[in-house]
Amino acid sequence: MATASASSPFLKPFALRYSVGSSPGRQRRHTLPASEFRNLSLQDAISVFEIEREAFISVSGECPLHMDEVRHFLELCPELSLGWFEEGRLVAFVIGSGWDKEKLSQDALTIHVPDAPTVHIHVLAVHHKCRQQGKGSIILWRYLQYLRCLAMVKRAVLMCEDFLIPFYQKAGFKDIGPSGVAVGPLTFTEMEYTLGGGAYLRRNSGC
Ligand SMILES: CC(C)(COP(=O)(O)OP(=O)(O)OC[C@H]1O[C@@H](n2cnc3c(N)ncnc32)[C@H](O)[C@@H]1OP(=O)(O)O)[C@@H](O)C(=O)NCCC(=O)NCCS
Repeated sequence: MATASASSPFLKPFALRYSVGSSPGRQRRHTLPASEFRNLSLQDAISVFEIEREAFISVSGECPLHMDEVRHFLELCPELSLGWFEEGRLVAFVIGSGWDKEKLSQDALTIHVPDAPTVHIHVLAVHHKCRQQGKGSIILWRYLQYLRCLAMVKRAVLMCEDFLIPFYQKAGFKDIGPSGVAVGPLTFTEMEYTLGGGAYLRRNSGC
């Protein structure tokens, strides 16, 4: 598995820095980028969980990843996560881990399989103040482009509630049927995104 520092294109191109000051001679640089995409680290776990708490726990009492699981995956496979930060604040994120079976099972909720051909997307969430602005679609798109840069990854899978199927279909995911995994009373549909043509894209995308 590639490491964050070795493989992440997010360390390179997306930090848009901005300056303040009334004249060019007196401008000074802010240290926080206006907008930045990067892999998450353990230090981001609290911000991640704050967004999850609002997005899921306050709605259903459950959430895809509890705090210890967030920390678990950010420790094991930070290179399969992505955060969108605006002026240093987390506004949206994706957390994934490696998986090596055709369909997701209960084990997939807690396991990371290194060097696996499939990435299981555990959670995508946008800060509640930033929803319906296209951010969820954008970070998902960027995450999928990033996965294309990881040579061993052939597809991404996730399970979602039925009301979100159209959202993921618009992003290019296909419905592959009911998931065998249930969380309490919640049932899910499994969605798959094939990262086909990776070799060509990797050669031509600056990975
Ligand atoms: C789902 C989520 C990631 C979408 O992010 P977003 O930035 O608001 O979405 P975008 O602005 O990119 O796209 C909006 C589209 O998302 C879909 N959508 C978002 N929330 C939805 C919801 N609660 N019900 C149904 N569709 C929804 C709609 O298709 C909408 O399209 P429309 O504008 O034509 O109605 C965000 O609403 C969120 O964080 N929700 C809480 C956490 C969650 O449910 N995550 C997904 C499961 S892991």
